[in-house]
Amino acid sequence: AYYDDQSEDYLFKVVLIGDSAVGKSNLLSRYARNEFNNNSKATIGVEFQTQSMEIEGKEVKAQIWDTAGQERFRAVTSAYYRGAVGALIVYDISRRGTFENVGRWLEELKVHSDSSVVVMLVGNKSDLAHVREVTVEEGTALAEQHNMSFIETSALESVNVINAFQTVLREIH
Ligand code: GTP
Ligand code: MG
Repeated sequence: AYYDDQSEDYLFKVVLIGDSAVGKSNLLSRYARNEFNNNSKATIGVEFQTQSMEIEGKEVKAQIWDTAGQERFRAVTSAYYRGAVGALIVYDISRRGTFENVGRWLEELKVHSDSSVVVMLVGNKSDLAHVREVTVEEGTALAEQHNMSFIETSALESVNVINAFQTVLREIH
């Protein structure tokens, strides 16, 4: 984290990771601009948004980075993780494979970032509960096993999105 003496502001870098099409970009657009895109394209390279919030009377700025889940569209991995103090590992509750890959994302995170990074496991698309392939209990158990917080979200229905980002930022703080 960077500390700015003048404004007493904090700037925290948080990265979004997880398989392609789990909803990383839509979680970010929902959080930063309250927007959702039904037919969003796969991310190519890296994008980020800065969002401010107040924690214990201090202005905290979160710089949230979003990259491609698809290997071929990803930018230099080490640069993406550099300086990150928080990470959201996202899977899609309606696609079991995306949950099974969480371990790989954890490995990559471990290789490229500081061991003190605050990690949150996010099961997105909770609106698709009728075609669910991963139970809440499984998400909870995996998170506990790896010392992460856990939350289910819906970027589509705007459920728990702010909560997910704020939980990570509070834990960093
Ligand atoms: P990459 O950029 O390829 O890594 O994908 P991504 O993880 O950024 O996924 P993206 O946000 O582009 O969303 C993929 C698809 O899932 C899009 O069609 C979204 O509209 C849809 N989607 C995202 N979030 C939700 C959600 O909460 N519920 C439902 N039903 N669909 C969602
Ligand atoms: Mg994306």
